[in-house]
Amino acid sequence: MLLRTRRKQQGQQSEAGAPQRAPDGNTALRVESVLKQFGKEAPHRRNTPTSPSLTVAVDHVSIEVPRGEIFGLLGANGSGKSTLIRLISTLLYPDSGSVQVFGYDVQQHPRIVQRMINRVSVEASFFKKLSALENLLYAARLYDLPIADARQRAITILAQLGLNEKRLYEPLEHMSRGMQQKVAIARGLLTAPTLLLLDEPTTGLDPRSKQDVQHFVRMLRERHDTTVFLTTHDMDEADRLCDRIAIIDQGRIVALDTPAALKQQVSISKGFHATATLEDVFLALTGRSIENDFAPHTPVELV
Ligand SMILES: Nc1ncnc2c1ncn2[C@@H]1O[C@H](COP(=O)(O)OP(=O)(O)O)[C@@H](O)[C@H]1O
Ligand SMILES: [Mg+2]
Repeated sequence: MLLRTRRKQQGQQSEAGAPQRAPDGNTALRVESVLKQFGKEAPHRRNTPTSPSLTVAVDHVSIEVPRGEIFGLLGANGSGKSTLIRLISTLLYPDSGSVQVFGYDVQQHPRIVQRMINRVSVEASFFKKLSALENLLYAARLYDLPIADARQRAITILAQLGLNEKRLYEPLEHMSRGMQQKVAIARGLLTAPTLLLLDEPTTGLDPRSKQDVQHFVRMLRERHDTTVFLTTHDMDEADRLCDRIAIIDQGRIVALDTPAALKQQVSISKGFHATATLEDVFLALTGRSIENDFAPHTPVELV
């Protein structure tokens, strides 16, 4: 009993007392052969991977993102992007395979990983009757941040995102979707994450707000050494913003390279005279156009 208690304490210490320096400072993210399925197996189908009642959301995905990179996961609706982001951010655990953030395994060291990451998603939840600033200060309290510092940081980030300070005092429900998305991004940055996970950060934004967000993401990498892992179904955004792109189709990575290399490969293989666009690349690899495939909807949460 005593031994068990002591072992348990040692186990707890091993997470809290893990070295301050990450074991792998140069690889921000390592996803190794990750599988995630949803739904229940029918009893007579147990152990058959093709059971129709199982959705394979992420199908043996492997990705490595070096520190400082802006990495884009490009895919149509339902291709597994948000599931992968949730697996990286410890909200879900993989059925098999592993995810490491700066060398820390998300299952063995979830609390250390949580301190190094932040996730901004389209369905960010806020208190809509409260102002943007009140929402941000509420988050700062949850993160245990000094309020005065957090307040200043929030105002600075929102100004960099092109949001006027005056708007910070209005109820959030009076703000446009684009403005609310900027508040969600500011909230994700209150803790200065080293790995920032952006799930469709510009979906539904007007062109100007899109540019503000994209400009801000670049600035983060340049000034703050932040590694950015973002999902998008916007070809243009992936092309202009990302150092490298992985194209995901039905949970599988079908290509991974720089935008220029992907376009060149498709130009050569298809015998194009002009350079291929990223749309051509997507079409060549998946047999579908991303826009035809995309129909915004809210997935039904089963877990
Ligand atoms: N919590 C869940 N329960 C059941 N199925 C889910 C759940 N989350 C996602 N899925 C399914 O997994 C697949 C991938 O979804 P998702 O990762 O949300 O895709 P994307 O973000 O690319 O639109 C879809 O078929 C979706 O319906
Ligand atoms: Mg999604």
